Amino acid sequence: MDRILSGIKPTGSLTLGNYIGALKHFKDFQDQGEVFIFIADLHALTLPIDPEVLRENSRDIACFYLASGLDPKKTTIFLQSQVPQHAELNAILQNYLYMGELKRMTQFKDKCSKMNDSAIGLGIFAYPSLMASDILLYDANKVPVGEDQVQHVELARDLVNRFNHRYGDILTLPKAEVTKIGKRIMSLSDPSKKMSKSDPKGDIFLKDDPAVIRKKIMSAKTDSGSEVSYDVENKPGISNLLTIYGAMKDISPEEAAKLFTNSRYGDFKKEVANAVLEELIPFQERYQKIKESGEYLSVLKEGAQKARDVASVILKKVQHAVGLLDE
Ligand code: AMP
Ligand code: TRP
Repeated sequence: MDRILSGIKPTGSLTLGNYIGALKHFKDFQDQGEVFIFIADLHALTLPIDPEVLRENSRDIACFYLASGLDPKKTTIFLQSQVPQHAELNAILQNYLYMGELKRMTQFKDKCSKMNDSAIGLGIFAYPSLMASDILLYDANKVPVGEDQVQHVELARDLVNRFNHRYGDILTLPKAEVTKIGKRIMSLSDPSKKMSKSDPKGDIFLKDDPAVIRKKIMSAKTDSGSEVSYDVENKPGISNLLTIYGAMKDISPEEAAKLFTNSRYGDFKKEVANAVLEELIPFQERYQKIKESGEYLSVLKEGAQKARDVASVILKKVQHAVGLLDE
C-alpha cells in the first residue's frame, strides 16, 4: 500500500500557488493509500518569524487542510513539532548528507546567496536534512509537492540509497509527485518570479477578500500583443493565467487557450477571476467555519498521537541499524 506524505511550512499566508501546486491535490491521495499531511512548523523557524504569527499561521494551515477536503478519518493531520521523532531522526540522518550537496540546493541559494555567512542560520542550510527525515520517518513512497521542492525530494532519495547501501534495506525510497497542471504558479505582477507568500501585489492569498482577488487578477501583468495563447516564453503573463484557469477547471493550459482564442485580455481575465472565485469562495467559507468551531484542535491532537506511533517504529529501526544501543 502507498504511503503518501507532504507538508507546508507556516511561514506566511498561503497563496494560490500553494493551493494549486500542493494543497488542492492532497485529498486525491486519500483513497490511494495511507496519507500523512503535516504543518512544517520547525521548518518555519529557519528564517526569522514572529512567534504569534507562526502560531496563527499554523492554526490557519490546519484549517486549510480540513477545508480542502482532507478527512481526519482517512488522513493523519499533525504538527511536526508535536512529533519529536522528526528531530531525533534528523540528528542521525544529517550525518549522511554532505556540505557540498546542501550548498547546491536552489532554495538555499535563492534565499541566502546575497547574505553574509555570518547571517545565515545553520537551520536553513540543513533544511533538506530535516525534510528528508520528515519523509523517511513514515516510509513514504509518494510525496506530493510543487516543482520547487523536487530537488529536496531527490536529495532524500540519494540519502536513502547511501544509507541502505551501508546498513541494508531500512529506508523507503520516496518519489516526488508533481501535479501536471500548476506545478509552478508565477507572480501576477512579475511572471518571471514564483508566487511565494512575499509579494502583496503579485500573490493571491487564500485569505484575501474575493473583491481583492478579482482586482489582483484584473490587474495582472499581461504581455504585448492582444491574442490569448499559451506561450510561456513570449507570453509569460497570459500563460500563467491560462495555467491558473486550467488548474481550476482541470484542463491543460493549451486546452484553456482554445476557449479564449477570440477573447480580449480584459474579458479573459474576468473569466479567470470567475473560475478562481468559484472555487475559492466556498473554500474560504469552509475555512471560516472550521476556524470558528475550533475542531482542528482535536484533529491535531489525535493526528500527533497517530503520527508518533508510526514514526517511533521507523526511528527504532534506524537507531538499531546505525548501532545505538536499544536493549
Ligand atoms: P511552502 O510555501 O514553501 O511551504 O510550499 C508548500 C507547497 O506548495 C510545496 O509543495 C510547494 O512546492 C508548493 N508551492 C509553493 N509555491 C508554489 C507555486 N508558486 N506554484 C506551485 N506550487 C507551489
Ligand atoms: N519544504 C517544504 C516546502 O517548503 C515543506 C516540507 C517540509 C515538506 N517537509 C516536507 C514537503 C516533507 C513534503 C515533504 O514547501
